[in-house]
Amino acid sequence: MSQISAHIADLRKSYERAELNEDASHAAPLQQFDQWLQEAVNAQVNEPNAMTVATVGSDLRPSTRVVLIKGYDERGIVWYTNYGSRKGQELGGNPFAALQFHWVELERVVRIEGRVERVSAEESDAYFHSRPLDSRIGAWASPQSQVISGRSVLVANAAKYGAQFLLNPPRPPHWGGFRLVPDRWEFWQGRKSRLHDRLRYELHDGQWLRERLAP
Ligand SMILES: Cc1cc2nc3c(=O)[nH]c(=O)nc-3n(C[C@H](O)[C@H](O)[C@H](O)COP(=O)(O)O)c2cc1C
Repeated sequence: MSQISAHIADLRKSYERAELNEDASHAAPLQQFDQWLQEAVNAQVNEPNAMTVATVGSDLRPSTRVVLIKGYDERGIVWYTNYGSRKGQELGGNPFAALQFHWVELERVVRIEGRVERVSAEESDAYFHSRPLDSRIGAWASPQSQVISGRSVLVANAAKYGAQFLLNPPRPPHWGGFRLVPDRWEFWQGRKSRLHDRLRYELHDGQWLRERLAP
């Protein structure tokens, strides 16, 4: 074992950068998220748009992966992927998912839960055509989450689809956006002595109920 294995339990950090309280937070979680995401971008945190997506398969086993948020508004949180991927298949069977942002430098976490739907074909088309050419070819070249015999499969596929579509690959039918429609949010701000701030918002009859959770 490496040296770190003997010391991993001693790694700890005190969180003292900021606080989150009922008076200073927004009544609507989307506004709170918008503010925190803007602050994460302003603070130049590493990949502020990266979020973990958790899904649950038909065997009831959860799985997670990182994706990039590509849009958010009153309708929900959007990311793009291969619908045939593991996450795509799991969402086909069970449309509930959880998202998590961890902005390490700001000592902040946002958790979002809800039901997931596909975005419209028009919305997926619009985003697909805004992507760089190699990413658009990559969407065709990669049978995401499937076993392949080696990297050469991807290289050969990219060459094949590049030659086939030249500068104008259409959006693959198996590729597009998902939108999580939130019914629960949590905003976590690290505090001293492990007495962190946690505000949870839950949707009840169309209204957001904001409550503090013990850390
Ligand atoms: C920072 C980062 C951003 C990523 N963004 C995406 C993304 O937007 N869409 C996507 O399908 N995969 C993205 N990936 C790759 C996924 O984490 C994952 O490997 C892939 O989606 C397959 O997941 P699955 O087999 O669970 O479906 C990203 C990975 C990282 C590290």
